[in-house]
Amino acid sequence: MKKIQVGLIGFGTVGSGLAQTLLNQKDRLLRKVGTEVVLSQVADIMTDKLPEQFSDVSLTKDAADIFANPDIDIVVELIGGMEPARTFMLEAIKHGKHVVTANKALLSVHGKEIFEAAVANNVEVGFEASVGGGIPVIKSLKEGLVANKIESIMGILNGTANYILTRMSDEGAPFDEVLKDAQELGFAEADPTYDIEGIDTAHKLAILMTISYGKHVHLDDINTEGITQIKPIDIEFAREFGCRIKLLAISRNHGDHVEARVHPTMVPNSHMLANINGAYNGIHFTGDTVENVLFYGQGAGKMPTGSAVAADVVDIGRNILSGSINRVPALSYLPENIGSPVITPMSAITGPYYFRITALDKPGVLSTISGIFSKHSISIKSVMQKSRHELDPVAIVILSHVANEEAVQKAIQEIDALSECTEATVKIRILMDDE
Ligand code: HSE
Repeated sequence: MKKIQVGLIGFGTVGSGLAQTLLNQKDRLLRKVGTEVVLSQVADIMTDKLPEQFSDVSLTKDAADIFANPDIDIVVELIGGMEPARTFMLEAIKHGKHVVTANKALLSVHGKEIFEAAVANNVEVGFEASVGGGIPVIKSLKEGLVANKIESIMGILNGTANYILTRMSDEGAPFDEVLKDAQELGFAEADPTYDIEGIDTAHKLAILMTISYGKHVHLDDINTEGITQIKPIDIEFAREFGCRIKLLAISRNHGDHVEARVHPTMVPNSHMLANINGAYNGIHFTGDTVENVLFYGQGAGKMPTGSAVAADVVDIGRNILSGSINRVPALSYLPENIGSPVITPMSAITGPYYFRITALDKPGVLSTISGIFSKHSISIKSVMQKSRHELDPVAIVILSHVANEEAVQKAIQEIDALSECTEATVKIRILMDDE
């Protein structure tokens, strides 16, 4: 029977994970697919020689050699970033190759162009590894949950940010030191600001929303805040309130509009997502038929991500063998049924808030601050101040009842303009027990 032959562009962390996976699972895949699934060619400008175990694989520095190779069925793009990844994907598609990628940044910005090119050339696009590392969340949404209207998505989608927050919470470890460890473990993006500023999480939420709702969601649609402003004091307060701080991706489907936001959130310890720790990801969906579903697993790393890329290769390989290309549409909905989203404005979001205000400890400051909250109809639940320094600014922590985001933003602007306030106020949204 015809072999399924793979051309790989990029032999970095995930690329070598895919190569190792296909080698380790060679016999098992033969028994499952009925033919060999082999890595035939690698293109990598940084690699002069492949490791010994890949001596059968041809190596080139020019991706065009892979596009021109008539034996290659599937081109796997694992170089990351926008260019030349976008051009490589489009070139491969033009050459009639099926494509697989883990490139969430690319898909959340140029996904529409790439998916439309694939439809026009009747090839498949696999992107399981773009969200949730080794967790088969894309396939589950497209197939296992096909008979559902997805009503909400809530997830911890970035292993690096979760690893940092977990170690800050459990060990009191400093932010910068933990970020360095995450980089050494191979979780972090080439530009780690993508991890800590919430951008990588937003890339992934855009992809999940696109296939959940059948709308082309773009990175720019997602309101994104990162975790760089979180200090040990916030983590301590969260612990006192029975919460953990998590960087959450949140989308609720309101029918004619959908929420799309990424921000640090205080999650009650009783909530399942509060207990997703380290580099693990957790993704919770509510479907109108299935109700609640939670996916949990390694969200990053060489072998888990290699597992997800290999799964796409096998899926496409099976479709090639059975002559059923695009049996399952790449974005779950048929291409002609995919529209544009209407995003709920952030100003319309409501919920309870944690505020950390940094101010000089002078008589009347608290009453001025509470006056501003009251003016904007924000009801205060409690106020805490741990220490008193005559001359130094102190942290005043305020918890609110359910408030409106637009009112919160106006109130913070006024508070931060007070001469007694010495630093920008930090706000963290609090997840309610029943969310
Ligand atoms: N930098 C990403 C993370 C890698 O930390 O989750 C997986 O997408």
